[in-house]
Formats: sequence, structure tokens, C-alpha cells
Amino acid sequence: MKTIIEPFRIKSVEPIKLNTRSDRGDILNNAYNNLFLVNAKDVIIDLLTDSGTGAMSSQQWAGVMLGDESYAGSNSFIFFEKTVKDLMGFKNIIPTHQGRAAERILFSTIAKKGDYIPSNNHFDTTRANVLEIGAKPVDLVCSESYDFNSSFSFKGNMDIEKLKKFIVDKDPSNIPLIMLTITNNTGGGQPVSMENIKAVSLVAKEYNIPFYLDACRFAENAYFIKLNEAGYSDKSIKDIVKETFSYADGCTVSAKKDAIANIGGFLCTNDDNLAKKKKDLLILTEGFPTYGGLSGRDLEAVAYGLKEVVDEDYLQYRIESTKYLGEKLNKLNIPIINPPGGHAIYIDAQKFLPHIPVEEFPGQALACELYIEGGIRTSEIGSLMFGGKDEDGKPFYANHELVRLAIPRRTYTQSHIDYVIEVMESIKDKSHKIKGLKIIYQSRTLRHFTAKLERV
Ligand code: F0G
Repeated sequence: MKTIIEPFRIKSVEPIKLNTRSDRGDILNNAYNNLFLVNAKDVIIDLLTDSGTGAMSSQQWAGVMLGDESYAGSNSFIFFEKTVKDLMGFKNIIPTHQGRAAERILFSTIAKKGDYIPSNNHFDTTRANVLEIGAKPVDLVCSESYDFNSSFSFKGNMDIEKLKKFIVDKDPSNIPLIMLTITNNTGGGQPVSMENIKAVSLVAKEYNIPFYLDACRFAENAYFIKLNEAGYSDKSIKDIVKETFSYADGCTVSAKKDAIANIGGFLCTNDDNLAKKKKDLLILTEGFPTYGGLSGRDLEAVAYGLKEVVDEDYLQYRIESTKYLGEKLNKLNIPIINPPGGHAIYIDAQKFLPHIPVEEFPGQALACELYIEGGIRTSEIGSLMFGGKDEDGKPFYANHELVRLAIPRRTYTQSHIDYVIEVMESIKDKSHKIKGLKIIYQSRTLRHFTAKLERV
């Protein structure tokens, strides 16, 4: 059959309150044009993030009821640990309350002030955690990533030549680890090929530098490898996942993405000594190593989610439904990052709103318009998120001004997505009237979460 259906039935529903355009104007004003400050009840379609917003399966909910809440050595931890080991193959599995806690523990134990940490692209929390310890996050993504119209299938790849040059220039002793984000969220949810993962690992070995994956969306990455990389079409997703992790010394994972859980994360490593240090810090800040900031029921939900996410029917539906949105926007000549990524579609707001200069945050202006026009909540991935002021007070801006339409897993149906497309079409017709924004309040780090903005 040509039609790819959602491979699930809906057993429990959550009503959406339909508000009016004028309600939404007031709501956005009260939220200072920051969609993180809008209440969920006032949102019609929530595409702010795919993180923790997926629908759990009946099996996951059953696991929640079975959660063993023992402080030490709970059955739920043993089940979680075995599931992660079977899937990813690492020796030490350390649960954390979410991905950023895993990042903080990793960087605090492995890196120090003045170090460099290269990646394809660091995500915002990874970048902020690296900066917080005084190290420097460095993005070395391949050049195809910057060409939104290139049809290259693996735009998340690291530029291997740049990586080698960077290591030699800075001296390997100043590089405590190399990271690689799969899929590359900051760069459009684009996958990294197995060939590239292998190549990064060889470079890391050559210079004796540990290699870690930021593996939040590892299953979506594996599906792209199966679809588009020579030699993988006949391999199972589980085998591709196993091979992916076999090249790394460890990983950080937010279980809110491809573990389809509402909360959770974990840190894996093959280095036993480092694992000890990480667990000491975990006990201080997250909890005992057999729960690490999570309840037993959370660990059950994560474990079952990890089993479900490698199902090929699920992944086909997941990747095809994101592509559906991307292709419809392409037909409307709305500029997006092509090819469509795994978990989200990224609109090029700078191109869509050429009359708004980067200093006036075209991405945020478009995100606000999507809310006013259709009650759709999205996130800016541009200069509000990645810009700021340098040590001399000079403003700097992001490489791109994007709006991310992140699709929660198993949550919305095709008609919800058709509604999003209709809203974008209607915005397109009057896009020249959209006005820019200026910041009237911002915090020291991760300013986009709490910034207040005003129309220019
Ligand atoms: N790494 C990547 C690539 C991510 O996308 C995220 C979260 C994290 C790390 C941190 O994980 O939220 O569990 O602490 N991304 C979410 C998003 C927030 O909307 O893309 P966390």
C-alpha cells in the first residue's frame, strides 16, 4: 500500500482547547513574545519540542505500574540497565534525570577550564554545559550542512579534515573528548552516516582522545542510515544501532527523545575509572547510581521506550510523517532545510522574512506569527538562542535564523499536520507585514528560555 499509517491505535486522548486569534494576541503580549512563557493550555498544536512530549504506549504505562521504588538495586534499574546494555553495548550505564544532567556530569569529570570540545554541532544545553566549566565548544560540521538546498543525505556529518587540523592546531592534550550529535539537532535534525561515525572514531583513536555520542535521536539516525547508506538496507535497526555505538567510548542520552519517555536520561561509558568519578558526582547531585534522579517507574518507561523505538514500522511512520510536512512546505515554496530531518522541520526565517534584520530576530518573529495565526507553538533556533554579547560587550549572532517545528512522537495525526501547513500558507501571503522584535530582558545563559521581547 502507498499510504503509510500511524502504526498504533489511540487509547487515551487529551482535549485541545481551540482559542481565537484575538485571545492569542493578548496571551502573547502577556508572555512578552516568548513562547516558553505561554501556558500549554493556550496552545493548539505544540511543536515547541519533541522532548518528553511523546505519547507513551500501553506497555510503557504498564511498566509505570510495575516500577520498583527501592532506593538501591531496584528491579526497574536492573531491567533498564540490561535493556541499555543489550541495545548499545556499553559497560557502565548511569541514569540521570535528563540529558543535560548527563552532560554536566560528563564534562565536569572529563574536561577542565581552557579545554576544547569539538562536535559536529553542540546543542544549546551541551554548549552551555561546556562553557559553564570554562571549556570551549567547537562546531566542525561538514560544509553541506550550510547549504539548505543540497540533497546530501548526511548533513550532520563531521568535517573530518577540519577535525584533524583542529586537533593538531590545538594539541590533543587540550581536547579531553570529541562529541558527535546524532541526529544533529542544531543543524536541522540531519543524520550522521556510519562511515562518518567510524571516521571520527578512527581520528579519536589516532590521537588517543575519548569519543562520545550525544545520542538523543539514535534510532532516527539509524533509520536514515538504513534508508540512505550503501550496505545497510538489509540490516536490522538493532544491528545498525549496535554498530553505531560500537565505535564510541560512551554517550549521553536524553530519554525524552528516542526513549519516548516523559523524563529521563543516561550516561554510558566503557571507562571504569571515569565511571567511578561520574557515579561519585551523581550521588552528590542526582541520586544513588541505581536511580540517578529518576523513580523506578521512570526507568521502566525508558526501558520499554528503548525497545519500541527500534521497531521499523514505527520508524518508517516517524520519518515519513516528518517528511510529509517538509514536502508540503517545499511545494508552497516556504524555505526549509532540505532534506527534511528526523524529528523536525526547520524553516529558514531569514529567507522567509528578508525584511527583518538578524538583530531583530526573524526566527522569533515568525515563531510568534505561527502562534498568533494558528495557535502553533514552535521554537526559534537562531540568534535569540545562540547569539549574545562577547567579553567586550560586542553582539554576535547565530549562523542561521531558523524556526523549528518539532514533532512529538506518536502524538499528532495527519490532520493536525495539515492544519499546520494551512497556517503556514496563510502566513506566507502576508509575511511582508510581520515585524521584528527587540530584547528588553535577558538572563546570563540560555537566554531564550526566559527573555522578554517587544515589537520593534
Ligand atoms: N542533546 C541534544 C541533541 C538535544 O536535542 C537535547 C535536548 C539535549 C542534548 C538535552 O537533553 O533536554 O533531556 O536535558 N533537546 C530538547 C529539544 C530540549 O527541544 O531539542 P534534555
